Order: sequence, then C-alpha cells, then structure tokens
Amino acid sequence: MTRIAATIAACVTIPLAVQAQYKYVSDDGASASCVGNNNATAPTPHFPGFAYTQTQAVQTATPVAPLAFTPTYAAPYSSLSSLAPKVSTTTYGNWQPGGPQVTSVSEPYGPAAWTSMWQAANPVNFTRGIYSTTVAPPPIPTAELIRPDPLYFGPKDCRQFPKGFMFGVSGSAGQIEGAIADEGKTPTGLDLAASQVPGFSDNYAADENYYLYKVDIERLAAMGVKYYSFSISWARIFPFVDVGSPLNEAGLKHYDDLINFCLEKGIQPVVTLLHADTPLALFQGNMTDAATRSEFNTYTNGGMYRDNFIETFVQYGKVVMAHFADRVPIWLTFNEPWYATTNAKAVYGTIRSHAELYHYYHDVLNGTGSVTYKSGGPIGIPLDPTNATHVDASCRYNDFYTGVYANPIYLGQDYPKTYKETVKDYVPLNQSELEYFKGTADLFAIDLYTANLIQPLDPSTGRLTAQCAANKTDPGWPNCVTFSDITENGWQIGYRSNAYSFSAPRLTRIAMNYLWNTYKTPLVYTEFGFPVFAEAEKDLDAQRYDTPRSNYYLSVMSELLAAIWEDGIDLRGAFAWSFLDNWEFGSYEEHYGMQAVNRTTQVRSFKRSFFDYVEFFHARVPQ
Ligand SMILES: *[C@@H]1O[C@H](CO)[C@@H](O)[C@H](O)[C@H]1NC(C)=O
Ligand SMILES: *[C@@H]1O[C@H](CO)[C@@H](O)[C@H](O)[C@H]1NC(C)=O
Ligand SMILES: *[C@@H]1O[C@H](CO)[C@@H](O)[C@H](O)[C@H]1NC(C)=O
Ligand SMILES: *[C@@H]1O[C@H](CO)[C@@H](O)[C@H](O)[C@H]1NC(C)=O
Ligand SMILES: *[C@@H]1O[C@H](CO)[C@@H](O)[C@H](O)[C@H]1NC(C)=O
Ligand SMILES: *[C@@H]1O[C@H](CO)[C@@H](O)[C@H](O)[C@H]1NC(C)=O
Ligand SMILES: *[C@@H]1O[C@H](CO)[C@@H](O)[C@H](O)[C@H]1NC(C)=O
Ligand SMILES: *[C@@H]1O[C@H](CO)[C@@H](O)[C@H](O)[C@H]1NC(C)=O
Repeated sequence: MTRIAATIAACVTIPLAVQAQYKYVSDDGASASCVGNNNATAPTPHFPGFAYTQTQAVQTATPVAPLAFTPTYAAPYSSLSSLAPKVSTTTYGNWQPGGPQVTSVSEPYGPAAWTSMWQAANPVNFTRGIYSTTVAPPPIPTAELIRPDPLYFGPKDCRQFPKGFMFGVSGSAGQIEGAIADEGKTPTGLDLAASQVPGFSDNYAADENYYLYKVDIERLAAMGVKYYSFSISWARIFPFVDVGSPLNEAGLKHYDDLINFCLEKGIQPVVTLLHADTPLALFQGNMTDAATRSEFNTYTNGGMYRDNFIETFVQYGKVVMAHFADRVPIWLTFNEPWYATTNAKAVYGTIRSHAELYHYYHDVLNGTGSVTYKSGGPIGIPLDPTNATHVDASCRYNDFYTGVYANPIYLGQDYPKTYKETVKDYVPLNQSELEYFKGTADLFAIDLYTANLIQPLDPSTGRLTAQCAANKTDPGWPNCVTFSDITENGWQIGYRSNAYSFSAPRLTRIAMNYLWNTYKTPLVYTEFGFPVFAEAEKDLDAQRYDTPRSNYYLSVMSELLAAIWEDGIDLRGAFAWSFLDNWEFGSYEEHYGMQAVNRTTQVRSFKRSFFDYVEFFHARVPQ
C-alpha cells in the first residue's frame, strides 16, 4: 500500500498538466513492528517487593501572565472619532413578550419600532436565562486547575512554535451569548431558528456568555490561553441596521468592556464582525426574504445580496473598528462567508464590503493590525491524486468554496473560470475594482476541521460535471463533484466525530499546503475542533475525559508544526473551536467544547482536552 505524503499543487496558477505533484511513499509497515527487542524468552518470574505509588497528576495549569504593556494598533477612538460614520446614540432596554403590544410606530428608530421588531419575530416559547446582569468573576479554585495524568500516547515531536505564534480559542456571539432580547438587541435569523425548524433547540439563553463573559475570560486566563477570538453581534450595535440609524450604547459598551477585560487578564482579543447572525432588520420587514434559503444549499441567509447590505455592513464595521482598533490586533470581517452566501450577488456583496473595510482600517484609521476573513473549511483533495480528473474536480470544488472570494481578495484575479461558467448571473468585476480588491487580506484565515476527498460525479448516475454545471436543479449543483470519506485503500479518512467531521490531520496539512502555495499569504488556523461521538449522552465525568478530542488537537497541532518545519509554511496562529460547549446551530448536543456547560446552572467544567491543548503550546512556545 502507498499513502499520500506530500502536497497538491496550486490550481490557480499552475497548468493542469503539472498539477499532479503528489509524492507517494512506500509504507513498509514499520510503525507496526517493534525494533530492538526480538528476545522471545521472558524474564524469570520473581518478587521484587511492592508499594503503592502516587500516580496522580499534581500539576496545575499555568495561568497567563498579565501583559507587561498593552500593545496598540491604532490611535484611540478619541482621536479617530471624526473618521467614523456620524451616528446618534441611544438605548432600548429589554423586550418583554407579555408587555404592552405596539400597534403603531411613529418614530422609525424609536422604542416602539424596536419593540415591534420583537413582536413581529415572536420567538416561540421565549425564555430568559438565570442572569440579568454581568457576573463578577470568582477566582478559579486550584482544584479545578489540576491537570489530568498525561495521555498514554503523547505527541512524538518536540518542535517549537515560532516566536509570536498566537494560540487561542474561539467562539461566536449567536452561539454562546444568549440574552437575545436584552439591552437593545434586535432579532437575528439565528434567534428564530427554533421557531422555524422542527426539532431545533433555541439560542435564547445559550451559555449566557453575554452576562458571564468575565467568568469565561477569567477561566481562559487561568488556563493560560493567550488569544480569544469572539464575534460581535451586529444587532446589538445597530439594532435597526440602516445607515444613519442610532448606535445602541449598551451593545457597544458590552464589547468595549469585554475587550478591556481580556487585556486586563493578559489575553489578546480577536474580533469577527459577522458570524452567521445577520440582523433581521437588514431585511426591512420582508420576512419572506429573510427566510429565503440559498440556491447553494447553505444554512443561513446572510443577506449579502441585498441592495442595502454593503453600505449598512460597512457602516457597522467602521464604527466598531474606529472604537476598538487601538486594542484589537486581528479583525475578521466574515466567518465562512460561503455558508451565508445565498447567490452570486451575495458573493459580490461579501467581497466588496470586506475590501471597503480593509481599506478603511489601513488607509483611513492607519491600523497596524491585520484584517482578513475566515475562509470556510472545505478544501478539496483529490481522492486519487494521480488521476487528472480527480485533481480537476478538486480544483473545481476549491474554486467554489474558496477561490470565488480568495482569487479577487488575495490575487486581484477574477472569479474562477468554472464559477463564471456555472453561476452565470455573477456580478462582473472590472480591472479597476480588481485592483481595489487585490491584497485586501493580511492573513489567510482558515477554519479547517476535516478533509474532503473529491472525485468527479460518478458517470453511472448519468450526470457528468458539465451537465450538472448547466443544470441549476441538479442536486450536485454548483460544485458538481462527489466527496468521499473513504480513501483509496478502503479505510475511512480518520476517526469520526459526532457530526460530519473526521480527525484527518495529515490530510488537513495537505489542504494547508494547497492554500499556502496558491495564495502565498501567511496562514492562521482560525478554527479547528472535534465533537466527540455521543459525548452529550455521557455523564459529566465521562464528558470531561474526552481523549478523542485531545487526540484530535494534539495530532493536528503536530501536523501544524510539521507544516512549519517541513513544508515551509508561514503559520501565525491556531484557535480551538471551542472553549466551551455551545449552541451548534440548533443543537446543544453537538459538543465542540473544551469545557462542559451545565445548562441549568451555567456551571462550566474543564475537560481534559483543554489541559492537553494548552500544555502542548506551553511546552513548545519560546518563553
Ligand atoms: C534473552 O533473555 C534471557 C532471559 O532474560 C537472557 O538470559 C538472554 O541473555 C537474553 N538474550 C538476548 C540475546 O538478549
Ligand atoms: C414550545 O413549547 C411547547 C410546550 O412545552 C412544546 O410542545 C413545543 O414543542 C415547543 N416548541 C418549540 C419550537 O420548542
Ligand atoms: C420580499 O422578498 C421576496 C424574496 O426575496 C421577494 O420576492 C419579494 O418581492 C419581497 N417583497 C417586497 C415587498 O419587497
Ligand atoms: C494616517 O496616515 C496618513 C499618511 O501618513 C496621515 O495623513 C493621516 O493623518 C493618518 N491618519 C491617522 C488617523 O492617523
Ligand atoms: C480516473 O477517475 C475517473 C473518475 O473516477 C475514472 O472513471 C477513471 O477510470 C480514472 N482513471 C484512471 C486512469 O484511474
Ligand atoms: C468598475 O466597477 C465599479 C463597481 O461596479 C464601477 O464603480 C466603476 O465605474 C467601474 N469602472 C470602469 C472603468 O468600468
Ligand atoms: C436537471 O436536474 C434535475 C434534477 O436532477 C433533473 O430532473 C432534470 O432532468 C435535469 N435536467 C436536465 C436538462 O438534465
Ligand atoms: C446540572 O447541575 C444540576 C445541579 O447541580 C444537576 O442536578 C444536574 O444533574 C446537572 N446536569 C447535568 C447534565 O450534569
């Protein structure tokens, strides 16, 4: 048997004829044999004497040291305010479902208008959590910070991460905050998921991170986490979205406090502007439009195709950047835009608004941090890399999920040819706009959980890629390829998680090589994680002993080091998804967390993977 040992060449810049650049190594099965002891004669049984020995861990986690100084990345808001969009400021309070009904709205952005939005959304079985104000963080008892015994089989390497490597954890507003109708926030599509989709759990209270953010940050600091990647809820900042509509003071203050508390605890904040939680206000009362799902089969409607998207999103982004640019090293405009992109016009709205915010940050605010967006995970890898049709199908797949944004943004190139041939109503990009887009991302941020092995559509289905591409109702449209979880040697690509994901660290390294060689921009691994199979069915002690998640993190991180040291990749950071179990778009059972959350008490408990994750870094980061 052979296995893939090296990397796919870039689809974008290298002609097809030289694409199959895989190296194969012959696997002699050495890993299964033991070298150095072939003595079949066991020692003579004997009695050396016995005493109980202490084998339990007594080490505790290493808390993060407070920053010696707070780095700054732009002037403070007081100096930048004249460069921010001019908006008024207001507050709205909390929505009470049983409260007085609003029947007429005179002021477009007044309290009645605000209430009427909740009234119209009317989330089914609305409830609140147990907290209604920010909880002061108690110190973490030492007993909670005792490390588990080391894994029996640990990582084999001793490589160091480069100086300055960012290691952190990630989460997103709509999945953890709860408090969905508090302190001026208006509804988002996510808030209505439980009303719209049978069997979905609601996100109304979620992890109550809106009120428990200090508790959560204190716990990250106690574990030694250096970076916290979170998202800001647009609906908390601009409840009405519209250009010129008021800024919600309570929402802005919340994130200002959150950023300051991170810094106070020695943690650097990384901010995402939109993570699947587009405010319903963007749809200007057209709930049919808001509920429209994608022609690309994606799961949320980000509304990026709407005529009002670019200007409203850019206003929101500018206001937030102007306020927080001094303290935030990394800005992520969009999370995995493909999943919220409903059509070709939405692709354009995403790229255009991203580029406008990039230029604003660097050219107007003179920000010295980084701006990028989180590219979604699916990176195609050919099932059989020696078969040109498989390579071609992978390139096609990557064109659709990655290249459609990344070619304009990183390379200043038009959308991929395959995309233009398939999605004929794309918004054309002219040369001057491509110049404006070119290089508007400082890092290639990738959310990469697993691998996708790709081959062409199976001819026995009677559909070839070309026919599928021309047929919008074909179930494979628009990428028109076939995925496989089974490698050529007949084995699943890796240990399966609860969801669609697999632990496949060697394959994800190939995907990283693809991105690095194609876009030639430093990479940052902005999300990776693993929902342990059936974890939600276990008791708390068993949930906390999450060896499959530890194995996932340690093996992926070993491959990240291999990518740096063997493949020459400039990798700047890694962020685990997630620091706690959360609302995974309709379910609390899809556990991705390195902490368990009791949803009755909101008590958090560290899992062993959290210790294994931070210890791996602490052992490999130059002090
Ligand atoms: C094999 O083990 C036996 C018993 O421990 C020992 O006497 C012998 O020297 C060993 N032989 C070798 C080749 O190591
Ligand atoms: C709302 O609550 C009712 C009564 O408990 C329950 O039957 C129904 O399934 C709930 N609906 C949703 C969407 O949770
Ligand atoms: C509402 O949105 C739907 C779906 O996009 C669209 O067909 C319809 O024309 C819109 N209605 C109004 C009044 O704009
Ligand atoms: C940004 O830099 C430009 C060019 O040096 C300068 O003219 C401008 O005043 C600076 N703006 C800010 C907000 O520092
Ligand atoms: C290449 O892949 C295609 C599609 O899976 C298959 O039909 C063809 O036989 C393969 N060619 C070779 C040489 O393996
Ligand atoms: C290029 O496209 C942009 C955006 O649509 C437009 O504003 C501009 O006028 C166009 N430039 C040329 C030279 O066509
Ligand atoms: C397009 O795909 C649909 C769904 O598979 C199929 O019913 C239809 O026949 C296809 N049309 C053409 C022209 O192939
Ligand atoms: C949550 O905590 C409560 C109170 O301590 C306890 O009774 C319950 O069993 C816990 N739930 C889970 C799922 O552990």
